[in-house]
Amino acid sequence: MPAEGVDLKPRDHILSFEEIMRLAELLVAQGVSKIRLTGGEPLIRKELVQLVERIAALNGLKELTITTNGLLLPRKLEDLKNAGVTGFNISLDTLQPDRFKHITRRKGLETVLEAIDMTVEAGYDPVKVNCVVLRDFNEDELGDFVAFTQSRPVEVRFIEYMPFDGNAWNTGKFMPYSDMVSVIQERWPSFSRHKEDDSETAKLWRVPGFTGSVGFISSMSDHFCSGCNRIRITADGKLKVCLFGSNEVNLRDMMRAGINDERLIETVQSALSRKAASHAGMEVLAESDNRPMILIGG
Ligand SMILES: C[S@@+](CC[C@H](N)C(=O)[O-])C[C@H]1O[C@@H](n2cnc3c(N)ncnc32)[C@H](O)[C@@H]1O
Repeated sequence: MPAEGVDLKPRDHILSFEEIMRLAELLVAQGVSKIRLTGGEPLIRKELVQLVERIAALNGLKELTITTNGLLLPRKLEDLKNAGVTGFNISLDTLQPDRFKHITRRKGLETVLEAIDMTVEAGYDPVKVNCVVLRDFNEDELGDFVAFTQSRPVEVRFIEYMPFDGNAWNTGKFMPYSDMVSVIQERWPSFSRHKEDDSETAKLWRVPGFTGSVGFISSMSDHFCSGCNRIRITADGKLKVCLFGSNEVNLRDMMRAGINDERLIETVQSALSRKAASHAGMEVLAESDNRPMILIGG
């Protein structure tokens, strides 16, 4: 959470449920099989449960997942599960209450831990826990997070710190995946890769005998652009074909100007055809313009 807080957008700047549903229906009809709702923070959206129900009912959709800071999840989990959410990623960068308060600028570690346990109890397996690792900031907790997987069916996902506008990224704060592995192996020498051929974004590792596992999102030190089949639509209706690209296509304004379905799909396809083979690399990205992660959503 930035020190200056976050300016909320006027309501009419963000997509309405009708606009979200129009895009979801068209994209699922084109073969999209997984939709993730990220936000901002998705759980503060009014009537999210109704939106989830409508998206979950789309023919051809196999997965509907949510990334959340977890603070409202204990209250909303049951309804979201009943509405059709198939998976949760819960963001948690520290297991220490003071550090949690420093990062998020609020109390709530216990609530997030409760949210993780409730999600496990509700039968989600694995529950994914997103942890962005910063050198000299929370790298001392790598071992504690791995210990967290010992008896819980969670996948702790250590995410390399990525540069976005305003996040003061620098190489000193950046900790590559290979260094994280070395630190963990000092405590657990048997920590090893357990799925080599994973086509997902995460490289999966585990301590043999532990219930849960560890995923590394190595977007910076060992990118997986060639296997990336994601597109993102921001809350204000801009299409991004790459998380690190500043090019955006304003689908919201096109829809509001009356574009038909065929042209809308052509617009998405043509943006995809211009997608670069890979992102520019972290040093270049650190100098480039891109909206901050809080305005992309993940
Ligand atoms: C931006 S949040 C949005 C969804 C929701 N509000 C939440 O807190 O999970 C999505 C994910 O992006 C991660 N993230 C944010 N900034 C990042 C950065 N600079 N590098 C890597 N991951 C980042 C967050 O930790 C979180 O897990």
